[in-house]
Amino acid sequence: MTYRRCGKSGIMLPEISLGLWHNFGSVDVFENFRKILWRAFDAGITHFDLANNYGPTPGSAEENFGIILKKDFSSLRDELIISTKAGWEMWPGPYGNFGSRKYLLASLDQSLKRMNIDYVDIFYSHRPDPETPLEETMGALAQAVHQGKALYAGISSYPADLTKKAAKILKEMGVNCLIHQPKYSMFERWVEDGLLDVLEETGIGCIPFSPLAQGLLTDKYLKGIPKDSRASNPNGFLKIEDVTEQRISKARKLNEIAQSRNQSLAQMSIAWLLKDKRVTSVLIGVSSVPQLDDNLKTLENLKFSSDELSRIEIILKGN
Ligand SMILES: NC(=O)c1ccc[n+]([C@@H]2O[C@H](COP(=O)([O-])OP(=O)(O)OC[C@H]3O[C@@H](n4cnc5c(N)ncnc54)[C@H](OP(=O)(O)O)[C@@H]3O)[C@@H](O)[C@H]2O)c1
Repeated sequence: MTYRRCGKSGIMLPEISLGLWHNFGSVDVFENFRKILWRAFDAGITHFDLANNYGPTPGSAEENFGIILKKDFSSLRDELIISTKAGWEMWPGPYGNFGSRKYLLASLDQSLKRMNIDYVDIFYSHRPDPETPLEETMGALAQAVHQGKALYAGISSYPADLTKKAAKILKEMGVNCLIHQPKYSMFERWVEDGLLDVLEETGIGCIPFSPLAQGLLTDKYLKGIPKDSRASNPNGFLKIEDVTEQRISKARKLNEIAQSRNQSLAQMSIAWLLKDKRVTSVLIGVSSVPQLDDNLKTLENLKFSSDELSRIEIILKGN
């Protein structure tokens, strides 16, 4: 594993980090995700990304992670970067959603209890809240850091202008924004229109989520929709209607370039993100150890020729 500095902070993150959004909930197979976590750590993945609502059921990914942390990783807490978030709906009523101080701080306490730990390394505002003053949301993150319940603050899915403002507010409160977590892949490139520049200017790290477009940027759907796929899973966030002919046709063409690089499409999709030095770490999801192993091999070839890049660009911009 190679580690990259997260923005202008003291923290180094592995080039590949593991997220527990899918496949780690109460509906999933304990021994499967336990093995994924072992394999990940053994391969140098030191960063595990959670959120209050990951499951299903919401909260169960944190509970499961807490159990494995206690059983298998109890002596390794100081070797791990654990993150969690609040911002999407977690409990009924007006205090379990969005960006209020009430929600964020109560949710962080719940997350710590579920994972049975004293602090998380990174606490995120999971999404911008158009109604709550930014000062209030950032104030909650800063308080979490000042209280020692989180070591660092992060934001997710904030647009470029709001990211600049959020970083300034946090700084005035004595806290540096460590990291931004945006959706970013060959199929989703909004971050290239300003956000990456802001992150570089402000010294904030970048950890793209859904780098494989939830599986669309792998060879999984090239020959139809398999039964054991996120799109077929009723609990999966990827819907069958998201597996469009247009996306699959692009994936097939991209797969040909990947093959000519002796890479799987998953590996090329991750490498394509890591070619940008502003990207600190790529936050993948996996449903099995072989998928994880496949993705880890990405690190053997991160270089692209200009010809490969322009061929990829033509495919992505095509219809
Ligand atoms: N901040 C936010 O708002 C936000 C939102 C979403 C996600 N996230 C974070 O980002 C993490 C990753 O998101 P994601 O799970 O959508 O990422 P992803 O890496 O784009 O998709 C992961 C899925 O792709 C398939 N896959 C992975 N490797 C494969 C391979 N080598 N070959 C074939 N298929 C492969 C698997 O699907 P199958 O199950 O079909 O096998 C896997 O579950 C999450 O766990 C979470 O931590 C954050």
